[in-house]
Amino acid sequence: MSKTKTKYVCSECGYESLRWIGKCPNCESWNSFIEEIFETKKSGGSKKKSESVPLKLTDDVPQTEDRIQTGIKEFDRVLGEGLMPGSVILLAGDPGVGKSTLVMHAAGKIKTKILYVTGEESFRQINIRAKRLKVNNENILVYPETNLEFITDQIKNENPAVVIIDSIQTIYNPDFDNAPGTVTQIRECTSALMQLAKVNGCAVIIVGHVTKEGFIAGPKVLEHIVDTVLQFEGERNHSYRILRAQKNRFGSTNEIGIFEMHGDGLSEVANPSEIFLGDRDKIVSGSVVTASMEGTRPVLLEVQALVTPSNYGNPQRVATGFDYRRLSILLAVLEKRAHLRVSTANVFLNMAGGIRIEEPAIDLAVCAAIASNLKEEKAKESLVAVGEIGLGGEVRGVSNIEKRISEAEKLGFSTIIIPKANMKSVKKKTKIKIVPVEDIQSAIEEILI
Ligand SMILES: Nc1ncnc2c1ncn2[C@@H]1O[C@H](COP(=O)(O)OP(=O)(O)O)[C@@H](O)[C@H]1O
Ligand SMILES: [Mg+2]
Repeated sequence: MSKTKTKYVCSECGYESLRWIGKCPNCESWNSFIEEIFETKKSGGSKKKSESVPLKLTDDVPQTEDRIQTGIKEFDRVLGEGLMPGSVILLAGDPGVGKSTLVMHAAGKIKTKILYVTGEESFRQINIRAKRLKVNNENILVYPETNLEFITDQIKNENPAVVIIDSIQTIYNPDFDNAPGTVTQIRECTSALMQLAKVNGCAVIIVGHVTKEGFIAGPKVLEHIVDTVLQFEGERNHSYRILRAQKNRFGSTNEIGIFEMHGDGLSEVANPSEIFLGDRDKIVSGSVVTASMEGTRPVLLEVQALVTPSNYGNPQRVATGFDYRRLSILLAVLEKRAHLRVSTANVFLNMAGGIRIEEPAIDLAVCAAIASNLKEEKAKESLVAVGEIGLGGEVRGVSNIEKRISEAEKLGFSTIIIPKANMKSVKKKTKIKIVPVEDIQSAIEEILI
C-alpha cells in the first residue's frame, strides 16, 4: 500500500518542509521551494533480504585497487590515479563547458567495457561528436535512454566496468511522479546508481549541470551521496578549462587538471605556466609574475593591477580570481606598512588568464602589482615574486619553495624574490638569482625598477 503526499523541497540544498516557505532556513536562498510529490510506502508483504552481511574487519581482502585509467593524465590525476571501481563520480559544470566532450575523450581511451547512457543527445549526435573528437573505441556502447529502470537492467545485462550518465537531469525513476530534473528524481536516481555501483563494482560517472548561482542544479544533496565531485570550469572568453575535485573519497582535492578546448575537442595542458603567462612581450606597470602551487604542480601566472584615483567617497575594489577580503587586507597593509596611499584609490585586480588562486603565497605579487601601477613603475624584467604578507608587513615563508624556484628557472626567469624564512630550504646552486626579502617595503623596492 502506498500513499501520495506533497512536500516542499528547496531546489538549492534539498531542505524539506511540509509547507511552502519563502526563504530556506538551511541555505538562506529565497524563493527556492518547489512542490514535490512523494509516495510513502507502507511496510507490508514479504520482507526483503539484505544483499550484504556483516564481515570482520580483519578478514583478508585483495589489497591492490585496480583503478581504471581514463588515459587522460589531467583527468586521472584529479580523480586520484584513475576511476575507482564501485565509485560514483559527479562531473558538474555549466552547460556548454565541455562535460560531454571530456567524458567522450575519456571513454575513447578506456580499455574496458563502457556504457554511455545519453538522455540529452541522440545516438546520431553522439556519433557525430565521437567522429569529431576522433574517438573510435569498440568498447563503448551508446544507450539513448532516460528511464532508470531500463538503464539499471542494461547495466546488469551488459556488466560494463564504466557507466556514463549524461546527464542526471534527464534521467527519471518511474516509481516517482516528479518530472526529471527535480530534486526528488535527481536524488533517487543517484542513490539507485550508487547502490548499483557498489553491488556491480562498476564506476559511474554522472554528468550534472550547474545552475546560474553556481550550485549543482537543484540538489546540493548530491554532493553528500556521491564519492567524488568534480567541477569543470571555464570562462566564456577563454579556451581553456579547469577540472577541480571539490570532494574526493579516493584522492586529494588539491589537484587540478587543465585542458584547452579546440574544434576537435579538449587537449591536455601539460605545462600550465605557458598558458597563464601568455604573451608577455610588452611589460607594463601593474604586472608582476608569481609562482602558485596548484595541487602538486607549480604554476607561474601574471598578477595585474590597475589603480586609479577615486573621485567619489567610496573607492571601488574589484578582484577577479582572487579573494576580495584578502585584497582589502593587503590594501590596508600597503597603506599602513608600505606608506602607499591606496585608501582613496580604485583598485582593480586580475589574475591573467582567468585562473582563480586561493593560496596566500601570491600576496607579495598582488601588493607589488598594486604598488607598481600606483607609482607608475614597472617591475624588473624577468622577475618572479612569491611570499605571504602578514598584517605587520612581514613577508612570511611559503610551502614548496624549491618547486616554485625550479619552475621559474625552467621558464627562463632570471630573478626570484622569496621570503627570507625560506632561504634555509633552498639549494645552493641555481641559475636563477634568488633574492630574499623580509618586509613588504623592501620587497617592493627590490621588485620595482
Ligand atoms: N562542431 C563543433 N565544432 C567546434 N566546437 C564545438 C562543436 N560542437 C561543440 N563544440 C564545443 O564544445 C562545447 C560544448 O561541449 P559539450 O561537451 O557539449 O558541453 P556540455 O556537455 O558541458 O554541455 C561548445 O561550447 C563548443 O566550444
Ligand atoms: Mg552535454
